[in-house]
Amino acid sequence: MWPPVARASFGLMILITALYGVSANGGDHANSSSSTISPATREHWMQRAIQALPEVVSPCPFGAFGTAIVNHTSTTELGNLICIGANLVRDIGNPTLHGEIAAINNCTAVLTAPDGPYKLTATEALAAYKDFTLYTTAEPCPMCATAIRHAGFRECVYATSIDTLIEYGWPQLDLRSKEIFERSTRLKSYTYLLGGVLESQTNAYFRWQFNDDGACPGGCERDEGSGQCLSGLFSVHNDL
Ligand SMILES: *[C@@H]1O[C@H](CO)[C@@H](O)[C@H](O)[C@H]1NC(C)=O
Ligand SMILES: *[C@@H]1O[C@H](CO)[C@@H](O)[C@H](O)[C@H]1NC(C)=O
Ligand SMILES: *[C@@H]1O[C@H](CO)[C@@H](O)[C@H](O)[C@H]1NC(C)=O
Repeated sequence: MWPPVARASFGLMILITALYGVSANGGDHANSSSSTISPATREHWMQRAIQALPEVVSPCPFGAFGTAIVNHTSTTELGNLICIGANLVRDIGNPTLHGEIAAINNCTAVLTAPDGPYKLTATEALAAYKDFTLYTTAEPCPMCATAIRHAGFRECVYATSIDTLIEYGWPQLDLRSKEIFERSTRLKSYTYLLGGVLESQTNAYFRWQFNDDGACPGGCERDEGSGQCLSGLFSVHNDL
C-alpha cells in the first residue's frame, strides 16, 4: 500500500490528467493503439493524402506534398477524416505553406468554423490535435516536424523519406523527422512516427522534378515545352 500522501498526490495527478488531458505517459496510449492499426487502414488514409493533390492543387503538382488529418476513434474502425491539405507554396506565394502546415491551418479552420461540423473553441481545437494522426506523402521537413510536435499529434505517418527526396535531387534540410521527434521530449506529448507507407506509389510523384528521365506519375505526361509533368486535362487546357 502507498502512504496516504503518495496516494493523495497520485489522485491529484489523475485529476490533473483528466482535466488537461496531458500527462507524461499519455504516449503509452498512442503506443498501444498505433501498433494495432492495420496496414490496410494506414494505406487507405495515405491514398486520401495522395488524393488531396488533385483536389486542392492538380494531379501532378511540382510540390506533390499532400496531407490528410484523421481521427482514429478506435483500432478496429477506419476513423474520421478531419481535413485535407496540400502544398500551396507556389500557388499562394507563402514559403511556409508546406502540405502539413497548410493542412493544420485548414483543420483549425474546419474545427472552429461556427457553421461547421465541430464548432470548437480555440482551446478545444488545440486539445483536439492530441487525438489526430497526420498522413503525408513525404517525410515532414524540420519546419513541419516541429509544427507537428508543437500541435501534439498522436501519430505522424509518411510515405516517401527525406533520404529518397535527397537522392532524387530535392533541396532538403538534411535532418530526419525521427531526430526532431527524439529531441522534443520536453514537450508534454508523444507522437508516434511511421514511415514508408505506400512509398512505392508516392516516390513517382517526386522523381521527375529534378530528373529528365524520371517518368511522370500515373495520368500525367511530360510537357515538351516546360519539361513539367502535366495531367492530360491540364495540357489540353494549356493548348487552348
Ligand atoms: C512509447 O511512448 C513513450 C512516451 O510515453 C516513448 O518514450 C516510447 O519511446 C514509446 N515507445 C515506442 C516503442 O514507440
Ligand atoms: C476524436 O475521436 C475521439 C474518440 O476516440 C473523440 O472523443 C473526439 O471527440 C474526436 N475528435 C473530434 C474533433 O471529432
Ligand atoms: C480543407 O479540408 C476540407 C475537408 O477535408 C476540404 O474539403 C478542403 O478542400 C480543404 N481545403 C484546402 C484549401 O485544402
